[in-house]
Amino acid sequence: MIIQSERISLKHLLSVEALSDQEVMGLIHRGQEFKRGAQWNPEKSQYFATNLFFENSTRTHKSFEVAERKLGIETIEFEESKSSVTKGETLYDTVLTMSAIGVDVAVIRHGDEHYYDELIESRTIQCGIINGGDGSGQHPTQCLLDLMTIYEEFGSFENLKVAIVGDITHSRVAKSNMQMLKRLGAKVFFSGPKEWYKDEFEVYGHYLPLDELVEEVDVMMMLRVQHERHGDEKSFSKEEYHQAYGLTEERAKRLKKHAIIMHPAPVNRDVELADSLVEGMQSRIITQMSNGVYMRMAILEAVLTGRS
Ligand code: CP
Repeated sequence: MIIQSERISLKHLLSVEALSDQEVMGLIHRGQEFKRGAQWNPEKSQYFATNLFFENSTRTHKSFEVAERKLGIETIEFEESKSSVTKGETLYDTVLTMSAIGVDVAVIRHGDEHYYDELIESRTIQCGIINGGDGSGQHPTQCLLDLMTIYEEFGSFENLKVAIVGDITHSRVAKSNMQMLKRLGAKVFFSGPKEWYKDEFEVYGHYLPLDELVEEVDVMMMLRVQHERHGDEKSFSKEEYHQAYGLTEERAKRLKKHAIIMHPAPVNRDVELADSLVEGMQSRIITQMSNGVYMRMAILEAVLTGRS
């Protein structure tokens, strides 16, 4: 028997911290329903969404576009280079304009952490905001699709051992995931270069050398090396990084048989993990991408319902 999930409604989706456990689980269940072919029965006959990406993106941007089309939402195109941002228009005024012309929800990726604070404090901006990534801050929609992928595999988060490995300091995905995974009962471990690790992460889990973790964990979550956020920081050669901190073919042989490999992508093949593992049997990287569409359908539905 398939039990219908309780509908979640949200004003915005800005960070995972702001979600209750019930909201997280509701979104996961709704994402699974959409994956099984569920339809949305909207209150209004027409909704408009816009995807404002001020940082590059393939998965988040395009899966939101697919999710919007699957839900029957009209997507209002936006390209920074062809917009009035080139004339100096601010993010605030861009979103204010979108809201004024009737956009119901804006999905935004921006380089500034907490860019959304001034938008949600505005009394004039009426549209919902979905955070598609704020600098090194948070990536809540990626976190939710990662949770959906893990839940689909194991059916629970309780006592699941999850390793988050790599460039943790610069990863908004890691920050969202460590918070939610701990809250939902998983045991979180970290590994990767000590230069890209902060003591503040100890609230959520423990650092261990990768070679101690590979045989222990149920989920091996590798992170992209975020060169664009490193500035003058120490860098590693590809080979040096792969051997010291990457999931090599040798290390992967020591994973538990049921363990899964995840990566938010884009993947630097043969850096964070061996090329042959990306589409291998234990990888769920492609599933993460597909689940991104269904989870984003659930998020769009929740925010549009929350604003109706
Ligand atoms: N994982 C992720 O956010 O990918 P994009 O940068 O391609 O959206």
